[in-house]
Amino acid sequence: MLTDMSGLITEIANKSGIVKIYKQGAPSVLGYERETITEPGPGEVRVRQEAIGLNFVDTYYRDGKFPVKSFPYTPGVEAAGVIEAVGPWVTEFNVGDHVGYHFITGAYAESRVVSTQQLIHIPAGITSDEAAAILVKGFTARMLVKAVHPVKPGDVVLVHAAAGGVGTLLTKWAKALGATVIGTTGSEEKKEVVLANGADYVFLAECREFVHSVLEITNGQGVDVVFDGVGKDTFTHSLDLIRKGGKIVLYGSSSGQPEHIDHGLLRERSIIMATPTLSAYITDREVLEEYAADTFGAFQNGIFEKLAITRYPLSKANQAQADLEARKTTGSVILVP
Ligand SMILES: NC(=O)c1ccc[n+]([C@@H]2O[C@H](COP(=O)([O-])OP(=O)(O)OC[C@H]3O[C@@H](n4cnc5c(N)ncnc54)[C@H](OP(=O)(O)O)[C@@H]3O)[C@@H](O)[C@H]2O)c1
Repeated sequence: MLTDMSGLITEIANKSGIVKIYKQGAPSVLGYERETITEPGPGEVRVRQEAIGLNFVDTYYRDGKFPVKSFPYTPGVEAAGVIEAVGPWVTEFNVGDHVGYHFITGAYAESRVVSTQQLIHIPAGITSDEAAAILVKGFTARMLVKAVHPVKPGDVVLVHAAAGGVGTLLTKWAKALGATVIGTTGSEEKKEVVLANGADYVFLAECREFVHSVLEITNGQGVDVVFDGVGKDTFTHSLDLIRKGGKIVLYGSSSGQPEHIDHGLLRERSIIMATPTLSAYITDREVLEEYAADTFGAFQNGIFEKLAITRYPLSKANQAQADLEARKTTGSVILVP
């Protein structure tokens, strides 16, 4: 009997909760199961994940907008946790280290093996929940305000979906750099969130008065830059709001891709258009360390203040994705194993 019990306990300890899809489709294709954990190979570690970041891009791999290599497929691109096993030839990381990573697919798991190439140490004092809330989203905000359009005091910046994951951190970072921030959102309730994020003005994205009001705020000149992660529903009227020689940064498309881009209008008003992706900016280890130091530093220096984090159990990833797509969430969402 005792032998049976210890066998059962070992069996449970050797299994990890994991989310898998066997086909692409609605959130209901996200199933939760348990599978045997594996040992790390050369250059790899096994991480006991404490918090997994939920990102809009996860829904693209699930619903078929982005292809996946094979099934079953485990979504998710970022997480934070503690190293519980180290493979051969790993020198920079040890068992017990607090680590995180961004853009390694397969993150929706309790425990997983990852290469150390994209792994980073999380500074003391930052929890796994906080790290998972600011890795991809904070890195994206950093790319936008420091690299794509270095924000300077006096800039007038328009942030679409300013209550969302990236939008919240972007608003706070742009404010800290001295910009006037105009935020948009999709509902009256979320307007409060945008103002709490520090935006100077907030408008409903679909409101007709919005274009007129933004021009009034900028003395008819238009804004210096629009950060647009929404795409289809916002892109066209964003163009009317940019000053001559200003910039439109299309970094995401949560409402779909813009159907038509008026290149004539862009040229006529000398508008610069950028379509940045993190993978094109974080190209090597050195840049990764720079992004991590800057983003964790911004958090430690109070730029993001208290993080707005909504938690779902990992086993409820289907509900979390459904809520994100239905525009029910604000701030950063994490999945907790
Ligand atoms: N370029 C990159 O490397 C990079 C990296 C990370 C993320 N991104 C992009 O950044 C954007 C934000 O990502 P996130 O994870 O932080 O998501 P999120 O902003 O928390 O969620 C998406 C938000 O978009 C708004 N939205 C407007 N129309 C929508 C529609 N038809 N369906 C769903 N949402 C709609 C909603 O806010 P309201 O209701 O307030 O309008 C919703 O809350 C995404 O487009 C993502 O792909 C890009």
